[in-house]
Amino acid sequence: MKKIALGLSSLAISVAAATAHAGEVEVLHWWTSGGEAASINVLKDLMTEEGHTWKDFAVAGGGGESAMTVLKSRAIAGNPPAAAQIKGPTIQEWGDLGFLTNLDAVAEQGQWDVVLPQVVSDVMKYDGHYVAAPVNVHRVNWMWANPEIFKKAGASIPTTWDQFFEAADKIKAAGFTPLAHGGQAWQDATLFEAIALSKGSQFYSAAFVGLDDATLRGDDMIDVFKTFKKTRDYVDSGFSGRDWNIATSMVINGDAAMQIMGDWAKGEFTAAGKKAGIDYVCYAAPGTSGQFTFNIDSLAMFQVDDENAQGAQQDLAKLMLEPTFQETFNLNKGSIPARLNMPRDKFDTCAHASMDAFLAGSSTGDLVPSMAHGMAVSSMVQGAIYDVVTNFYNNESMTAEEAVDRLARAIKASM
Ligand code: BGC
Repeated sequence: MKKIALGLSSLAISVAAATAHAGEVEVLHWWTSGGEAASINVLKDLMTEEGHTWKDFAVAGGGGESAMTVLKSRAIAGNPPAAAQIKGPTIQEWGDLGFLTNLDAVAEQGQWDVVLPQVVSDVMKYDGHYVAAPVNVHRVNWMWANPEIFKKAGASIPTTWDQFFEAADKIKAAGFTPLAHGGQAWQDATLFEAIALSKGSQFYSAAFVGLDDATLRGDDMIDVFKTFKKTRDYVDSGFSGRDWNIATSMVINGDAAMQIMGDWAKGEFTAAGKKAGIDYVCYAAPGTSGQFTFNIDSLAMFQVDDENAQGAQQDLAKLMLEPTFQETFNLNKGSIPARLNMPRDKFDTCAHASMDAFLAGSSTGDLVPSMAHGMAVSSMVQGAIYDVVTNFYNNESMTAEEAVDRLARAIKASM
């Protein structure tokens, strides 16, 4: 009798401990496509297994523009979610406003300073303290291609922009859409920055990190705008308003030959059961082999009052850095783990190429932050660039010379 009573009371204690610890985290993110949802579900499940409650706050719209608008209105109302998908310099903006919570204890326990490359850990800190946890590193300057279409059109995979247009002419003549593209400002910016990168990492950095006026107005930038506009002739007429993942499905389904898009596109191929090197191929965007525009996804943690929610937040941050999570998440997402020294065997050739380019680029200056994906400039400057780039793409009469002038002025006004 005594034994049973003892057993029960220890059970009661452990249940109480678990309940005291269990909390709810509301997570705002924009991972709503097939591949993205499969990735975030891994984290959801892990949190639920830990006894926590995951309150999903998904705001559709790739690239995160809509999600950021929703986040701002929640924060202004004094009710931000516990965690939000925030990246790059935007983390600093939220830190400046005093919204973020300190994750140093978890980071120290997990040795984040040791297991993360500095280019990643720097972004996760505000004022020297961890306030966000990274899940991955995306490479943005990728080209995804359907090899069957290339074969049918008698075209070769392009490695320069000149070759791109040669191949695109053949593909068009064979009755396919050469370039799968959607109609959102961030998709335009993704294509635009890939073309800019092909002018060299130094040029890219001077333009989008240094915001150097002479570079922004120079002949190379005029050329970038011209090439960018030329791609418009190789996009189908239905592109306006199209989501990025629908554009990816055009390559998957054999309607379009190529898409210039970050490796979250690979998540869509994976979710559709397609294999790299067989059903589709990945190449660096033309003229950018060996270069790497990085885009690190992270969840920043907001200050919350509830103690259980605070505990759940810390657990969430801890789980995100666990090697098993980093592996499974990134196999689904198309990116590579943010942690260093992870086993590579389960990853495909595209991920291996990305891992190699990341490591090599770190010492050659070819690892540069993605402007289009919020890693290079403040949200104000990014918005200004988006506006010029998108207006130019959709305005037949604006010349490349006018565009660089607008770009330089818009950047200056938003700095
Ligand atoms: C994010 C990716 C996401 C993509 C499309 C990017 O800005 O970093 O995680 O898959 O947008 O939604």
